[in-house]
Amino acid sequence: MDRIIIRGGKRLSGRLPISGAKNAALTLMPCALLTEEPLTLRNLPRLADVDSFGHLLNQLGASTQIEGARPEDFGRVMTIRAGKLTSTEAPYDIVRKMRASILVLGPLVGRGGEAVVSLPGGCAIGNRPIDLHLKAMEAIGAEIELAAGYVKATAPGGRLPGGDYVFPIVSVGATENVVMAAVTARGVSRIGNAAREPEIVDLCNCLVAMGAKISGIGTETLIITGVERLHGATYAVMPDRIEAGSYACAAAITGGDLELAGVDIEDMRATITALVQAGVEVEEKGDVLRVNAPGPLKPLTLATAPFPGFATDMQAQFMAMLTLAEGASVLTETIFENRYMHVPELARMGADIHVSGRTAVVRGVAKLNGAPVMATDLRASMSLILAGLAAEGETQVARVYHLDRGYERLEEKLQAVGADIERAGDG
Ligand code: UD1
Repeated sequence: MDRIIIRGGKRLSGRLPISGAKNAALTLMPCALLTEEPLTLRNLPRLADVDSFGHLLNQLGASTQIEGARPEDFGRVMTIRAGKLTSTEAPYDIVRKMRASILVLGPLVGRGGEAVVSLPGGCAIGNRPIDLHLKAMEAIGAEIELAAGYVKATAPGGRLPGGDYVFPIVSVGATENVVMAAVTARGVSRIGNAAREPEIVDLCNCLVAMGAKISGIGTETLIITGVERLHGATYAVMPDRIEAGSYACAAAITGGDLELAGVDIEDMRATITALVQAGVEVEEKGDVLRVNAPGPLKPLTLATAPFPGFATDMQAQFMAMLTLAEGASVLTETIFENRYMHVPELARMGADIHVSGRTAVVRGVAKLNGAPVMATDLRASMSLILAGLAAEGETQVARVYHLDRGYERLEEKLQAVGADIERAGDG
C-alpha cells in the first residue's frame, strides 16, 4: 500500500489550481439516471470515488465515457448515458466502500419507480444512519421495505405522487436524495429545513439544466414541481471548497503564501472568516483566493455547523493548523459524534489536544515532530499531511487510499508550490 512521505518545514508559495468538488460530483453523477439522454459533466475531479461511482452506474446499465483525459490535465469530462437501465440495485460490496452510493436511491425511484440499495452500515466518523433519507422518500409517496440489510423503495403505480417534508435536522445526503426523487413526481413537493450547502445548489442547478422545476434554490425551503421527464445536459462541477480550504490551511501552517486558483469565494465565507481570525491575510481576487500567513497563528473557538456555518469537513485541517497557534483553541464537532480520529495521530507528532465528548481543546505547541502516522478517513488524512508539512523531520502517512478518494493529485499540487512530498509504495 502506498505511503506519502513528507520532509517538513518548507514554506509553501505559488499558485495552486483547485479541482472540481468531490461532494458535488458524487451527487451530479446519479442525476444521469433520471434521463435516457446523455449527461455530460465537465470539471469532474480525477478521484477514486468518482471512478467507483462510475462503476456503480455501469452496474445499473449506464455507460460512462471519459474525454480529454491527458495525463497533465486536472479534471475530466465524463458523459453518462443511461438510455436503458438493466438493474435497480446498489449492492452491499459497493455501498460499504463508498457511502455516497446511497445517492442512487432517489433517482432510481424517480426514473423507474424502484430502487434496492444496501444499508451502508457504520463508518469511521460515526453511525451515519439513513433514516431521514427514507422518511423524506416516504413523505413524497415512496413505499419503503427493509429486509436482509437492504432497503427497497417503490413508487406506487411507477411514479411518485410528490408531497411535503420538513427535515428535523439538516441532512445534506437526504436532501440530495429526496430532491432527485421529486423532480419527476406527478405533483409538487415542498422540502423544509433543506440543506443549503453549495453542493445542493449545484445539484439543483444541474437538475434545472436537465428540465426540472425547482424554486427556492439555496434557501431552506425547496419547492419542486414534478415534470414528466428530464432531458440531457452539459454541466460543469463547482470548485471544491473543501480542497481549497485544506490548501489555505497548508499556506497558514507553513507560514506560506498561496494563490488558490479557480475557487468560488462566496462558498468559502466561514473558512475565510476563521482564517482571518487566526491572523492569516486573505485577499479575494475574482476566482483566486490569496492566503498569506506572515506571522504566528492566533487560537480560535470554532464549532462545526451546516452551511453557511463552519464545515465539518474543515474541522480536522483547522485542528492541525491550530496545534501551532499561540494559545488554546476550542473546537466543537456538532455534526458527527466520532470525528476526532486524527487526534491521537496528531498527538504522536507532538500536538497537545484533549477531547471531551464533542469538544477538543488544542493548546498550541512550539513545534511538531515528523512521525509515522496512519490515515483514518479522508479529512483526517489531510490534517496529517498538513501537520507533516509543518513538522520538523520526516512524516510518513500510511493508508493513502483515503486521500485518493478526495484530493486530486495531492503530492503533485503540493510539490509545485515548494513542498518536499512524495508517494512511495511499500515495496
Ligand atoms: C455530511 C456533512 C457534509 C459533509 C459530509 C462528508 C453537514 C450538515 N453534512 O454530509 O457537509 O460534506 O458529511 O463529511 O455538515 N443524519 C441522520 N439520519 C439520516 C441522515 C443524517 O440522523 O438519515 C444525521 C447524521 O448522523 C449527522 C447529520 O444528520 O449527524 C448530518 O448528516 P448528513 O448531512 O446527512 O451527512 P452527509 O450527507 O454525509
